[in-house]
Amino acid sequence: MASRDFRVPLREELRGVEPYGAPQVSVPVCLNVNENPYPPSEDVVRDIRARVADAAMQLNRYPDRDAIALRTELAAYLAASTGVPVTTANVWAANGSNEILQQLLQAFGGPGRSALGFEPSYSMHPIIAAGTRTDWVPTPRRADFSLDTEEAARILVEKAPDLVFITSPNNPTGQAIPLDQLRELIAVTPGIVVIDEAYAEFNEHASTLGLLEEFAEKLVVTRTMSKAFAFAGGRLGYLAAAPALVDALQLVRLPYHLSSLTQAAALAALRHGDRTLETVAKLVAERHRVVDALAGLGFQVVPSDANFVLFGRFDDAKAAWQSYLDRGVLIRDVGIANHLRVSIGTPEENDAFLAASKEIAR
Ligand SMILES: Cc1ncc(COP(=O)(O)O)c(C=O)c1O
Repeated sequence: MASRDFRVPLREELRGVEPYGAPQVSVPVCLNVNENPYPPSEDVVRDIRARVADAAMQLNRYPDRDAIALRTELAAYLAASTGVPVTTANVWAANGSNEILQQLLQAFGGPGRSALGFEPSYSMHPIIAAGTRTDWVPTPRRADFSLDTEEAARILVEKAPDLVFITSPNNPTGQAIPLDQLRELIAVTPGIVVIDEAYAEFNEHASTLGLLEEFAEKLVVTRTMSKAFAFAGGRLGYLAAAPALVDALQLVRLPYHLSSLTQAAALAALRHGDRTLETVAKLVAERHRVVDALAGLGFQVVPSDANFVLFGRFDDAKAAWQSYLDRGVLIRDVGIANHLRVSIGTPEENDAFLAASKEIAR
């Protein structure tokens, strides 16, 4: 086909925008997207293979549109890990928690509505808000990236957003917000409160799921299998909320959005959840080791309850990011001046990162 220069009739607000996404570079040590560095065990792989093979025999049929078996397993996992009586009707699943966030904004945001977030935080929140034409209300955290909850509550009352996103533990800064402070924020917010708990399994504070009953009319807790569950490639995110909120999402979800292959693979991965989640303790121990070692090298490290740490200070974060890459270590420049973010890897990967840090600190 002949190539001709022409201007695609893009929506005005998308002109000149760069697509979101970390650089995908092939290097020996990849510590840039907060994945679980341990691949699925042989047992998990065997089970996924068997279940996907079964599902393949019925690929002429559409999948279970309501993903009942998967939602039931997810609810059982949440109930067992938090003690909160979560049921199938409380859970909804989609292709990554990004799709969950998009469905929430499609249902509860949109033109003439607003969503507020405390920044710096997960950069997809404002991007998905923009994609759904929801007005984004950026609200700064303190200079040390912690959240001033009194000030946050005041702003929530003043701005009365239709949705608020609170990421706990926060990405890219790492800290979780204690439950009593979250309770205060949820209580004063008139709109939907989305607590993004993508890193919940790494967090020693209690999950916000315990507040679901108290704030049934507005609280949504989002989770993902991309991090602790070592299932980033499988694309499975989910949420827990009151059944009425889950029902509302049926109005915006695409029919059959979760393929039968995804549902089968996720079910297999979940059945082996206990084994997979054993890696969480290892990663938390490694996080402590990395934090101490970085501090020992003279870096400032932001406290973290997740599987990554934000650290600095670099005169030129971009140049420092390149210095790591030149040493075969891919970390993340998240656009916060003087800081870089590193995901916690295997002990060997962390050693390689720390060796590079020692050279770069000199
Ligand atoms: C805070 C937060 N929420 C949501 C996501 C999206 O994860 P996924 O779409 O893989 O479930 C991420 C991914 O990095 C994240 O950091």
